[in-house]
Amino acid sequence: MNFHVITIFPNLFDSYLNDSIMKKALDKGSISVQFYNPRDVTKNKHKKVDDIPYGGGPGMVMMAEPIIDLWADITKKTLIEKLPLTKKRKFKTIILSPGGEKFTTEYAKASAKEHTDIIFICGRYEGIDARVAEITGADLVSIGDYVLTGGELAAMVMIDSISRQVDGVLGNKQSLEEDRISSHEMYTRPAELKYKGKKYQVPEVLQSGNHKLIDEWRKHH
Ligand code: ADE
Repeated sequence: MNFHVITIFPNLFDSYLNDSIMKKALDKGSISVQFYNPRDVTKNKHKKVDDIPYGGGPGMVMMAEPIIDLWADITKKTLIEKLPLTKKRKFKTIILSPGGEKFTTEYAKASAKEHTDIIFICGRYEGIDARVAEITGADLVSIGDYVLTGGELAAMVMIDSISRQVDGVLGNKQSLEEDRISSHEMYTRPAELKYKGKKYQVPEVLQSGNHKLIDEWRKHH
């Protein structure tokens, strides 16, 4: 899976991508993440990427042109020639927006299955010129009913979640928590934990070794 992120703040992704499972997946080549900065392609001399909104109102709006230029280059593959072209590329474009369709594990699964390349367009300020969505045919996607300061964190959440669905990213297919009988209650050793004079026990059934009973218990916890 190739992720392409259009953002004016690529550094925001560094720490998360440089550790743990994301780093392993990148090192193995199961996923790739490329960044494209609208500031690098703005045509005005002050490298402005935003402007005041038509119709008035507070804040600034991200300009369409630099984003569209980057998006067109990515989809034309001119910027990604170096990446392995083993399969026919299938692009999907996503604009992160608090008002968009809600992101779910189902969405992550379908994205991983149906696409080889996902382009995230991250907005800052009050939003992105609406013509970007019109021209790119992007999905508008929200990761939850709260407003973040920009789309970068939302894109990172989606990259993490979609990557889990890519073959080879999780060492063991069994690790896909989504496919297990779901239980929020997990325990590890010790079987008895003491805190402020009180004892906290791991439920007997989980220590029983009886997998039928354990599965039944997990359906309800
Ligand atoms: N940008 C700002 N808030 C967001 C959210 N909740 N989801 C996606 N993109 C966003």
